[in-house]
Amino acid sequence: MQKISGITRLTFGTPETVTPVKLRHFQPAYDHLGKMAAADGPPFAPEKVTTRNNSRGFQVELPLDDDEQLFGLGLQFLSFNQTGKKKTLRVNSDPRVDLGDSHSPVPFYVSTKGYAVLIDTARYATFYLGALTKRRNRSNEGAAGDSEVGTAIETLYDCKEQAAERSVLVDIPTAEGVDVYIFEGPTMKEAIARYNLFSGGGCVPPRWGLGVWYRCKADYDQQGIVEMADRLRDEKMPCDVMGLEPGWQSQSYSCSFVWSDKFTKPAEMFSALSERGFKTNLWTHGFTHPASPIYKKLLPYSGEYEVFSQGLVPDFTMKETRDIFGEHFDKEHVSCGAAGYKLDECDNSDFIAAWPWSFPEADSFPSGLDGEQMHSLFGFNFQECINDIFRKRNQRTWCQTRNTHALAAPYPFVHTSDLYKHSDFIRGLVNSGFGGLLWCPEVRHAASAEDLVRRIQSVVLSPLALINAWYIQNPPWKQWDRHLNNDDKLLDDGGELENNCRKILELRMKLLPYIHSAFYDYHLNGIPPFRALVMDWPKDEETWQIDDQYMVGDRIMVAPVTAESSSREIYFPAGQWYDFWTGQKYDGGNKVSFDVPLDRIPIFVKSGSVLPLATVTQHTNDPEAFKLQVRVYGDGSLPIRLFEDDDASMDYENGSYNTLSLSWDSTKQDIVSERQGNTPANEYSVSGIEIVKEIS
Ligand code: GAL
Repeated sequence: MQKISGITRLTFGTPETVTPVKLRHFQPAYDHLGKMAAADGPPFAPEKVTTRNNSRGFQVELPLDDDEQLFGLGLQFLSFNQTGKKKTLRVNSDPRVDLGDSHSPVPFYVSTKGYAVLIDTARYATFYLGALTKRRNRSNEGAAGDSEVGTAIETLYDCKEQAAERSVLVDIPTAEGVDVYIFEGPTMKEAIARYNLFSGGGCVPPRWGLGVWYRCKADYDQQGIVEMADRLRDEKMPCDVMGLEPGWQSQSYSCSFVWSDKFTKPAEMFSALSERGFKTNLWTHGFTHPASPIYKKLLPYSGEYEVFSQGLVPDFTMKETRDIFGEHFDKEHVSCGAAGYKLDECDNSDFIAAWPWSFPEADSFPSGLDGEQMHSLFGFNFQECINDIFRKRNQRTWCQTRNTHALAAPYPFVHTSDLYKHSDFIRGLVNSGFGGLLWCPEVRHAASAEDLVRRIQSVVLSPLALINAWYIQNPPWKQWDRHLNNDDKLLDDGGELENNCRKILELRMKLLPYIHSAFYDYHLNGIPPFRALVMDWPKDEETWQIDDQYMVGDRIMVAPVTAESSSREIYFPAGQWYDFWTGQKYDGGNKVSFDVPLDRIPIFVKSGSVLPLATVTQHTNDPEAFKLQVRVYGDGSLPIRLFEDDDASMDYENGSYNTLSLSWDSTKQDIVSERQGNTPANEYSVSGIEIVKEIS
């Protein structure tokens, strides 16, 4: 690996051979890293990092200043600010308590001091993030140390307040050494950007990936899927992707990867969906049933335990395994029209007592990994396998996954879950940006009409606007109650809920060019498109605890509402902000209480923004979608750069795109657009963004 300015690797002892960095498939985005402004230098001298090697494994201890706040550790649902916490990064699909369990723990944390740290391990490491006090040298003090022990109730707990030298201790089981990567800032956002570019740079979705997704009930047949597509079009509910759940396979749990007899002519289904403007996504997991045509080939490349009755656990870290899957998936699904996959259950189960379906940490795999390492890296390498199918075809994809790890930014996979607490989903979205992850707070059934609306509002302001109706017969806006829905007892509200939901899905379609541009910032500059406020305002102490507001790109701040209460407090960081709905202006540095009507999700636009809004269409490939209305907020001093690419290939990675800058000319009181590049149009052409002058 080349030396990269602003990134330091410290090697201690003899690091393991199985680590996220050593098993990486993408090279760092050297070009884009090279364009970053110089960093300020390391946050601490390397000799301040101490280590220990003992029978537990390997421990590394890093300095931590008194005023530093730490965030990250992957997809943490249950807490935001990690300072003072002890977390063991165990892969688990059902975290019950805030001890570090996660679908996707990532051994990476970031500091408000403007740096980030990657501990390059696939072990279930324990992080003590300022949670310990090191023994001090008191050899010159009296027996009671330098403080009197108080017994009054006021003094009993005084010890909590005493200043202590803090550190971050990472306890890595089994290991005899570790590589530690330090990413410099100077700000927290730049440190994360360096990490994302080191990972390979953020992925750019095809526009259809950013449209609305609808996953049909698992027992739908081929005709049912096409009928749902027609129904959505008839009812004018925007949708770009139809998702097929386990029923498409002849055998799932574990999987055959072969079409079931409910899908006798999949190619016809793909083309029927395509004619209607839909892409198709296939559910799968990796565990392979004996009925699968690839079962025998996979035997030498699998672990020692079975999963989901008879399923092999393929060793996706091996190229042989990925090739066996790649060949079969390409021939049987992708070449027929499948546009992507949902990789389910690639995490782990510890708390599903009735059905502990996963393989043990003590498993062993032909590549030499044990079960613990495999749990950490299973989803990541499964993603690599699927991604490679599409890359070989020079075809862009957008997929789902339920597990990933460090260095995930270049993978076009959005993380989903079976859990369902709305506030945890929002926290997951806020936290995901700290670790190169994309998170989707998906919508299924609801507890009330209000709950459904509030959930859809959050999901349209996330990387994947997914309605996952895998266990409901009818769309949730026809009936939010799961049981009534499946009994076909639909709401008798004159379509009111459906109309509300349609408007929210339409909001997604309007914001699509803006969100697409934010993903290019992820790709070119490593900036997470969805991120916590603290990343942009690390010095503002208010942001240190805000886990229910986030930035989408550089200009939009979102403050979702859950059904629990329609009123909430919203914090405005420095600057001036405009309410997206009313145009009302708010000054930064203030908290304001809002009563939020059901048809609105609080969205605020930074003063100065030039904000393009697409014409609402039923799907993203409708040319009308490229006609933009442009809003100008405040003095219009913040132009925006949109990207036109072929929306189909990976050629954008080689710079094959046009940029379209939209800026506000205050003298002429007009939008000025400037296009650079001349990517040729093709049948997916988006080279033709048109400005409709409706300046607000
Ligand atoms: C779950 C998954 C759901 C759905 C279901 C189908 O594991 O999280 O979204 O796909 O499997 O059986």
